[in-house]
Amino acid sequence: MTRRYAVVLGLVALLLSLPGYAADTVHLAVDPSKPGARIDRNLFGQFAENLGQGLYEGIWVGPDSPIPNTRGIRNDVVAALRELKVPNVRWPGGCFADQYHWRKGIGPRDKRPATVNSAWGDVIDTNAFGTDEFMDFIQQIGSTPYVSVNVGSGTPQEAAEWLEYMTAAAPTALARERAANGHPEPYRVGFLGIGNESWDCGGAMSPEYYVSLMKVYSRFVLNMNPAQREHEQMLKIAVGPGTPSTQWTEAVMQAWKQHTWSWNINGLSLHWYTVPKGWPPSTDSVKFGLDDYASSLKATLFMDEFLRKQEAVMDTYDPEKKVTLTVDEWGAWHAPLAGTNPAFLVQQNSMRDAVLAALNLNIFARHAARVRMANIAQMVNVLQAMILTDKEKMVLTPTYYIFKMYVPFQDATSLPVTLDAGTYSRGNVKLPRVDAIAARDAAGRLLLSLTNLDAESPVVIDADLAGVTAKSATAQTLAAAAVNSVNTFAAPATVVPRATAVTVHGGKLNITLAPASVTVVAIEP
Ligand code: AHR
Repeated sequence: MTRRYAVVLGLVALLLSLPGYAADTVHLAVDPSKPGARIDRNLFGQFAENLGQGLYEGIWVGPDSPIPNTRGIRNDVVAALRELKVPNVRWPGGCFADQYHWRKGIGPRDKRPATVNSAWGDVIDTNAFGTDEFMDFIQQIGSTPYVSVNVGSGTPQEAAEWLEYMTAAAPTALARERAANGHPEPYRVGFLGIGNESWDCGGAMSPEYYVSLMKVYSRFVLNMNPAQREHEQMLKIAVGPGTPSTQWTEAVMQAWKQHTWSWNINGLSLHWYTVPKGWPPSTDSVKFGLDDYASSLKATLFMDEFLRKQEAVMDTYDPEKKVTLTVDEWGAWHAPLAGTNPAFLVQQNSMRDAVLAALNLNIFARHAARVRMANIAQMVNVLQAMILTDKEKMVLTPTYYIFKMYVPFQDATSLPVTLDAGTYSRGNVKLPRVDAIAARDAAGRLLLSLTNLDAESPVVIDADLAGVTAKSATAQTLAAAAVNSVNTFAAPATVVPRATAVTVHGGKLNITLAPASVTVVAIEP
């Protein structure tokens, strides 16, 4: 334990012993008798775009690199990601997807053409990390591919052939080509993204124009893997909104309502970043104080309203919630870190970002009946990353630890929580003091995630578990000396989860939450 952290905890204990601090207790109640929607594990998906050092350096170093690797993919990054049980990875973009031509990224690497990544900084792309390398990475981390096909500058034929290359089992020419490239077995493709932000970088299309293309891609871009015909069928995700306007959602859902045997979509994507001061992103990812912390959290909580608006439209066309709302880009977007290429979207990742991640995951869990998939942007070295690398060095960010702490929530059943959250005021910004979700996992454990948004005071949680008796209870807390505390290559364990004292007795749970912290409690019945 660092000295600063020990001092903070000491102060917390001292404050709590003072008379008057009882007022800082937040009461909440969990009702295990009313199970809600499943918190789909795909809500904890990731996004790995060909952008900056996200793929190259962050994941791919090449087989000849002195950095320990397996077939060119960094071992340290793979080991860290395996801990997160990443359910799906979206690739190759983002804006990059609509200018990617997959054929340039297959076959012997020394014969692949160099191209320009004009989506992100006009850097030269060797195409060394292509389809087979991505699939190898997916297999190494134990995940599922979510492939975005090129609608903006590609054709349905190009996309259909890509899917055939990846998934055909029959001895078609493309299946043979894949086998010649070392992969006789067809790959499983879990999710297909039909374009990306087609209203903007994906081709500045009108909703009507996109909907026409979406039907064609849905009809002809097929998964041919025999193992995915009946079970684990590939889900097709259409482009959805990136602003609170519901026009795009209306157009896609109206078309979906009238879909025939010949085409279908299973999901509608939604992109929403937390850009606290608006575009272009200007908040510093390291040098900031409590005012910026509070306004960032305020901005992130808008996700809830955004989802509600889109869900209301989806409900009118699809009350049975067959089409999932897929938040396949979300997270904090700060100013580029000083000294980095601004097109590489490099930012540090602080305790603030960890709290922000927990709040978004909690929102998704509360919307789990409709929101069954999400992808944080992005996985390594880009935006709100899990992992930062510098040559042979690697550091895990506070956001990484939130995803790790939330692993037990994957596929757990949500349980209703009622609480009087109180208010944390900072200047004009007013936030709920506490945020909480609860769930029951497959092993019958009761899970609680408790976030104290208040960066200036601890809070005591007094939770009524409706008679749940506990054999044992454990808690892990992510807290830090300051909201802008970060992990660096020199000090990688500044913000890491630590065990926290929790008591469960007579159906009541008691725990003290440190300022600006996230705690996950697991109760064994
Ligand atoms: O994640 C970075 C970019 O943000 C993506 O490429 C694009 O889809 C979005 O605008």
